[in-house]
Amino acid sequence: MDDLKRAAAERAVKEYVQSGMVVGLGTGSTASFAVHRIGELVSSGDLKDVRGIPTSARTATLAEEAGIPLVTLSEARPHVTIDGADEVGPDLTLIKGRGGALLREKIVAHASDVFVVIVDESKLVESLGAGPLPVEIEPFGWEVTLEALASLVCETELRMDPADARHLYVTDGGHYTADCRFASIPDPAALEGEIKRIPGALECGFFTDLARAVVVSREDRVETIEAG
Ligand code: A5P
Repeated sequence: MDDLKRAAAERAVKEYVQSGMVVGLGTGSTASFAVHRIGELVSSGDLKDVRGIPTSARTATLAEEAGIPLVTLSEARPHVTIDGADEVGPDLTLIKGRGGALLREKIVAHASDVFVVIVDESKLVESLGAGPLPVEIEPFGWEVTLEALASLVCETELRMDPADARHLYVTDGGHYTADCRFASIPDPAALEGEIKRIPGALECGFFTDLARAVVVSREDRVETIEAG
């Protein structure tokens, strides 16, 4: 699996990252291969004057270790962002956030000229909702927000910290995450609208109309699926 993730990441870096670019750096196991590859190319001098905008504290640490200079959204906007996904639907609508960084990932992806997704083929689905939809929520009044999410006809679960199951998971922004299981999701954009009408729901894991391309690695090849 790691080989497939690495293959997708390296193809995306080769196709989309050039010297002089500001690059949004995604979060998760697949995105970490892209960070490593960019770091290698910066170290070897094949990529010059590249700066990264990390989507999480974890990615910031990885990027610093890899030798990628970092900037913030106050200083620059990404020419391209490369990030993983949990599910990729046929129209390149995504579910993201099972790695716990969706709000910052979405802010960076939305601010980018080009958003490129890297996945192995296990992430491709016929219809979104095979697993839970993560929703980043405000801790204040989380009980009310969870009830409002459940009223959209899903099973909700407040995420525990994968590193310590006695505690709730807290995002870099200080928020909780509600994982919402729907029996089916016929219209992700409509559901996203309903979720965003809940005041405590800060952002959900649907990424609609954001991905310019998805680089998919399969056992026998790597292919790029362009939007539209
Ligand atoms: C992080 O919040 C997520 O959106 C990840 O991008 C997503 O979970 C994919 O992660 P993996 O590459 O580790 O599967």
